Amino acid sequence: TVLVVDFGAQYAQVIARRVREAHVYSEIVGHDITAEEVAARKPKGLILSGGPKSVHVEGAPTIDPGILELGIPTLGICYGHQVIAQALGGTVARTDNPEFGRTDFRGDPSSTLLADQPEAQTVWMSHRDAVSEVPEGFTAIGTTTGGQVAAMEAPEKGIFSVQYHPEVSHTPHGQDVIKSFLHAAGAHPSWTAFNVIEESVEAIRAQVGDAEVLCGLSGGVDSAVAAALVHRAIGDKLTCVFVDHGLLRHGEAEQVQEAFGEHFDVNLVTVKAADQFLEHLAGVTEPEEKRKIIGREFIRVFEQAAREHAGDAKYLVQGTLYPDVIESGHGSASTIKSHHNVGGLPDDMEFDLVEPLRWLFKDEVRKVGEELGLPEEMVWRQPFPGPGLGVRIIGEVTGERLDLLRAADRIVLAELKRAGLEREIWQSFAVLPAIRSVGVQGDERTYGHPIIIRAVTSEDAMTADFARIPYDVLERIATRVINEVDGINRVAYDVTSKPPGTIEWE
Ligand code: XMP
Repeated sequence: TVLVVDFGAQYAQVIARRVREAHVYSEIVGHDITAEEVAARKPKGLILSGGPKSVHVEGAPTIDPGILELGIPTLGICYGHQVIAQALGGTVARTDNPEFGRTDFRGDPSSTLLADQPEAQTVWMSHRDAVSEVPEGFTAIGTTTGGQVAAMEAPEKGIFSVQYHPEVSHTPHGQDVIKSFLHAAGAHPSWTAFNVIEESVEAIRAQVGDAEVLCGLSGGVDSAVAAALVHRAIGDKLTCVFVDHGLLRHGEAEQVQEAFGEHFDVNLVTVKAADQFLEHLAGVTEPEEKRKIIGREFIRVFEQAAREHAGDAKYLVQGTLYPDVIESGHGSASTIKSHHNVGGLPDDMEFDLVEPLRWLFKDEVRKVGEELGLPEEMVWRQPFPGPGLGVRIIGEVTGERLDLLRAADRIVLAELKRAGLEREIWQSFAVLPAIRSVGVQGDERTYGHPIIIRAVTSEDAMTADFARIPYDVLERIATRVINEVDGINRVAYDVTSKPPGTIEWE
């Protein structure tokens, strides 16, 4: 394991991803972790991330100084570079020339960290302070036109650091820096989908023994892969439950049941619970409240299903992913929204959770799914949130508004698929806002509902960009939606990236 120590960086999760892409397992920890806690986890290496503060301001995040004395190979990035310099006796100066964005950098190819890289290269910078003097025992191995120390190392101590961001794609040789560090740290590239499966299967068996286990299936890749892993571990002690909560897309309930029947040899129970969910959602408009209600009702359905169909199972399998955990407010990260399967769980839930994917990103889950032999259409299905259309209808969720959104959403998806854009788009859907607008159709005034098309590209849903859908495809969608869905008289396209937006509207 390589631990990424998070100083409140925008990029901590990207660093963890890059390490994993180099086939070394990596996790994020808060900067308040103590030297003993680090030592107990026996990591192969540490990476100190960037952060928003200056090391000079009062209350700037720092680390337990004992951590740098553990003899664990360490890579500092941006703020982490400055923390190392300051902690070990170098100098961090306030400079007059902050560097932001693409920056020319000259590195020393004979160094350990920058070995085999071109001397002159472009790197991505984002800093004001800079290291002006390296600590004793360190060598400066890179600089920019600003003349400060942009990279340094002390290979005998196993400590390396760079002012720039090797983890972002705007630093073309960034991944080489990560790999050099992992190599120097002796962290072997052995973390693969195959090993993840073996380890998960063992961990699941150790957790549940020969108890009965229930799994909530949504039809998406995460719960499918989680179910397949648990099935591999415990066979028919597993019962899967698919909840039709009435917030599904057109035809979805049928598709999911069919796909599972075909590809899975597991006990599958379908619960029709639309009335129950809609009843509890009636009159509710606040997004977090909706999410909490949906999360709670899921668990109520699972509890009943456990009693009726799964020998009173006490274990519940969920396809929770790492981003769900981070975004629901974990460690030093703040709560953006309560994902139904994390922050949305009711306090009185009695299940013990089995979450084999809790440390993985979506693309890693897809690799595991492929390795497990799940069908392509299941593995590459666009993500769909557990709360479903409930978080795509702004304001109250009613049967009528669900029908309206479902009809429009179906057209959006069909036209994007027809244009061959389905797979390059991470997620695409329609949103129904709580406003109306005036239009004219067939020489008559209309006062109808708009729908908003949302389509994004992304690597892991932590960040996203709006998809550049060709105008003629947008036009076709708009025309069809307005012609075919009674009550909708306007179509808008959401051109917000994440951040500052999120993918879903609620
Ligand atoms: P946001 O809207 O936070 O979404 O940018 C990031 C990704 O997570 C999905 N999402 C959820 N998935 N339960 C889920 O299973 C939830 O409560 C939930 N909320 C958001 C969203 O569709 C996107 O893929």
